Amino acid sequence: MLAIALIIVSFTFFQASREELGLSADLQYRTRVLTDSLKVSVSPSVLSHSTSTVQSIVDRIANNDRVIGLGVYNSDGTPIAVSNQLPDDISTNPIVTTAMDTDTPSGIFIPAQEGRVYIFVNPLHSDNRVIGALVVAQNAAYIDTTIWNIWQDNLVRLFLQLIVIGAALFALVRWVIFKPLSILTESVRAARRGETDTAPTGSHSFLMPLSSEISKISTNLKQARFAAREEARMRLEKLDSPWTAERLKEFMSAYFKNRPIFVVSYREPYVHSKGKNNTVTVSVPAGGVITALESVMEACGGTWIAYGSGNADKKVVDGDDKIMVPPEEPKYTLKRVWLTEKEVAGHYSGFSNEALWPLCHMAHVRPLFRAEDWREYRKVNGLFAKTLLNEIRHVERPLVLIQDYQLALVPAMIKKSRPDAQVAIFWHIPWPSAAQFSICPWRKDILEGLLGADLVGFHTQQYCNDFMETVGNEIESRIDFDHFSVTRADHETHVKPFPISVAFSGAAASRPEPDRSALEALGIRTDFIGLGVERLDYTKGILERFKGLEFFFLQHPEYRERFTFLQIASPSRESIAKYREYGEQVRAEAERINKEIGMRDWKPIVLENRNYSREELDPLFRIANLCLVTPVHDGMNLVAKEYVAARDEEDGALILSQFTGASRGLKGAILINPYSAENTAEAIHKALTMTPADQHRRMKSMRNSVRDYNVYRWSAELIKTLAQQD
Ligand code: F6P
Repeated sequence: MLAIALIIVSFTFFQASREELGLSADLQYRTRVLTDSLKVSVSPSVLSHSTSTVQSIVDRIANNDRVIGLGVYNSDGTPIAVSNQLPDDISTNPIVTTAMDTDTPSGIFIPAQEGRVYIFVNPLHSDNRVIGALVVAQNAAYIDTTIWNIWQDNLVRLFLQLIVIGAALFALVRWVIFKPLSILTESVRAARRGETDTAPTGSHSFLMPLSSEISKISTNLKQARFAAREEARMRLEKLDSPWTAERLKEFMSAYFKNRPIFVVSYREPYVHSKGKNNTVTVSVPAGGVITALESVMEACGGTWIAYGSGNADKKVVDGDDKIMVPPEEPKYTLKRVWLTEKEVAGHYSGFSNEALWPLCHMAHVRPLFRAEDWREYRKVNGLFAKTLLNEIRHVERPLVLIQDYQLALVPAMIKKSRPDAQVAIFWHIPWPSAAQFSICPWRKDILEGLLGADLVGFHTQQYCNDFMETVGNEIESRIDFDHFSVTRADHETHVKPFPISVAFSGAAASRPEPDRSALEALGIRTDFIGLGVERLDYTKGILERFKGLEFFFLQHPEYRERFTFLQIASPSRESIAKYREYGEQVRAEAERINKEIGMRDWKPIVLENRNYSREELDPLFRIANLCLVTPVHDGMNLVAKEYVAARDEEDGALILSQFTGASRGLKGAILINPYSAENTAEAIHKALTMTPADQHRRMKSMRNSVRDYNVYRWSAELIKTLAQQD
């Protein structure tokens, strides 16, 4: 369209210029002919000084449409006879004197109020002597009007053409290209989901080759899927082979005849937020619960009930507050629960994260027990229980998986109304010692809430032991250490470790080289890269890690400008003062170290204070020579396992705090005490100087352990154990 516009404008320009030249030449010619014929009658009267005759000729001619005015001048430029309309200043115009001096007729276009005027001066002669001049002023405004009309007509035509061409293009793209492509895309998507047996349809002939290729691919996909299912079926009983999404699906349908699963957590897996121009964006929050459960739900389907925290969450749900997710390929239902600001403040910020979180983590932060927070905690737990009870009202023996410390009271609430439901709660954070837990004013209520479940899961055996001891100290019950169960009033609760993991099945994907553009954008150009990824939380040991890095650079200055540490710290729980303070401390500490150790444009620590998506993290995990995971206390820590899972080349080094649940299983990691900066610095040096063979040996062992106990196995074992409860 731009090209068409350019062509039409250029043509118009040439047409207008040609027309202008033609009209001007015609006017000049006519004026010349007029003055030549007038000269014959005017010259004798000028010579005989017959002013009245000259005046009468002038008046007769000047009374014409095109001629604006006429004047006759003697040789010194004095007017002899001038018509009224002739511009006054013509006699002083040098064109008159020049024409007489050079004895050459000449013309000029001059601007005037009503449009342009053409002035033509023709010298008068007697005996070859110049005796004066005849001046004619012709109206030339019509030339401009004609040119303007040409432009106007052509521009209107251009405008209409653009509308017609635009509409035709739109229709062409919409119906001939976009529609068949979207039909093709939809059939590919359906084939990918395994929902259709039909080949892609609705293709135009120019898409036929593509369509037939895609049809072959979907047939192959179907065959591969069938083979995977068969393989998964055969593997079901062989617990030592890796678990996959397919195997989990097969397991669910073989053992549970596809009984629906209900997951309940405080945090939702997808947050919808208002973007620019009334758009809605989707993000995945940081945190272990989401990382683990998302893969399980994608594999098994079902319903996930969670708090709708996004400011556009209400906009996208249906009348039942539900939405199918993941957005790009819906596989399960997300049901949102709405909470007021007061409820979030009391339940989430207050009791969950200012009381229970510090109570369960040995991070030397004092828990805050407020009665009003506890009230909101109970109320919100009641709301989640009510929502779940409504969802399972028509489901026989539903399988319910409740997640984490934010919902400790839900199991008992569910079992009270639906004793047939099989309820498990998984505690994603550490369980403290009995002595530590005893400081909680509502400890009995929390324990009773948890013991409503048929199964209580923790990451490690140690947390199970501590939980049993706590129950023994606080609650009247029968405790069976042989079977790890607690019985109260006929209800038995089993307590068991299930070390949570990530969705890694060890499939050797040959992937292209990771994209380094994110590092370049951050100005990181060193040979060695270290990586840390966490929520900005005081349990994660970020300050301790920075101290270790500072000590390392002081001990090993040869690594300055050769090693950079990238810390991704996603904002977390910012409504809580302790978290805001911690964020400030982390930023200030990074700045201080960068100032003291940094050189030229190199900074030892690059701090990214925002949430990174999985797609953004993957290349970073693959590039980083080492990953620092240094929590002062952590139930499991999935970042460590994600790093290991991403290392397809079986290289890189994991530095892991001994106070994480993950340290029990990842034997190839370099274990450290994060409270010792010296110990951390030594580990960094060890990681950077480790031989490729040593890296390979360690990484291989860690990858085997993550593959053998991945999140699919975690959920299969959790669900199988739950289903075995009477
Ligand atoms: O792993 C503990 C945990 O509280 C999870 O429940 C949650 O996924 C994660 O930390 C993130 O915390 P929050 O939901 O408070 O952002």
